Amino acid sequence: MAQRLSVLYEKKPCYDIVFERSFDGLWEELAKFDADKRRLCIVTDSTVDSLYGGEVLGCLEGKCLKAVKYVFPAGEEHKTLDTVRELYGFLIREGFDRRDMLLALGGGVAGDLTGYAAATYLRGIDFVQLPTTLLSQTDSSIGGKTGVDFDGYKNMVGAFKMPRLVYLNLSTLKSLEDRQFFSGFAEVMKHGIIKDAGFYEWLLEQMYEICERDLDVLEEMLVRSCGIKKLVVEKDPTEQGDRALLNLGHTIGHAIEKAKNFTLSHGECVALGTVAAAYISWKKEMLSMEEYYEIRDMFVPFNLPISVEDIDPGEILRLTKSDKKMEAGSVKFILLKKLGKAVIDRSVTDEEILAAIDEIHFSDEDAHE
Ligand code: GLY
Repeated sequence: MAQRLSVLYEKKPCYDIVFERSFDGLWEELAKFDADKRRLCIVTDSTVDSLYGGEVLGCLEGKCLKAVKYVFPAGEEHKTLDTVRELYGFLIREGFDRRDMLLALGGGVAGDLTGYAAATYLRGIDFVQLPTTLLSQTDSSIGGKTGVDFDGYKNMVGAFKMPRLVYLNLSTLKSLEDRQFFSGFAEVMKHGIIKDAGFYEWLLEQMYEICERDLDVLEEMLVRSCGIKKLVVEKDPTEQGDRALLNLGHTIGHAIEKAKNFTLSHGECVALGTVAAAYISWKKEMLSMEEYYEIRDMFVPFNLPISVEDIDPGEILRLTKSDKKMEAGSVKFILLKKLGKAVIDRSVTDEEILAAIDEIHFSDEDAHE
């Protein structure tokens, strides 16, 4: 029997996260939502389509009213309203109505974009998440955040829309390039750092098996990591409070991501942003120096950066302050009281932000020291 977690919304069961190792069990899960009486559209990008598009379509064909696939070009630059607009057109031409359902197959881009289309097409239709990257399996497929980037601003336009199901085929993690795998791992570490020091220590103990992508260990890792995310989003589904803790490392991280023109992966930027946040926490005497260095150095064995070249600190500060995490003129930072306990802080000054950027900025002078 596959492991599963039930995610509550307003204290009632809303959707399950199912941990599988193939797509063989997918139809049985979809059948619980009368999928045989519905049209189903798989939405995926060109990379994931070539790996799993045919297989997933094969699981649906002949079992439902109609099974179709909409493929958009891979890449964050396609997470836009233009792609959503084209998807709306496709759904209209294929005769999709309010009873029909979308299946987001892929990473965060496919999940966020499909979820947003599902939230808005005909004022809302059902959708299912079939995440195939570590980032989407541990983070973006859970909790109902959907949306697209707008004019270079990440996730600027979106909606909360809960999926009907999150179906994880863990075997898909084997097909990820190392860089993409470790990018997702940054979000797994984040869950330990903000909420569960025991889980964080366990991750470090399992370092070898995780890097080898041992499926038993990855399954336990994801059940625990998704379990943390589930508790956070159940308590605060629309980010009025504690859900913001999940943004650890994202404040300065998003700024670096944008300044570097998306040449660094999201997880790499989250790792850098987390080092910066931990540094600010140390300087504000919330963390000890030993705790700061422990958090910083543990990204290294998982191929995640703790410093970055060629950034303009002034630009990173400006971008940090233009992020949507600004509230009433102050940046909403997530800082650390200790490993496993994150807090929201609105008192971080420009000087503290600049000092943290300096800490993660690898300059020519560092190289010559
Ligand atoms: N990825 C952050 C959140 O779901 O709130």
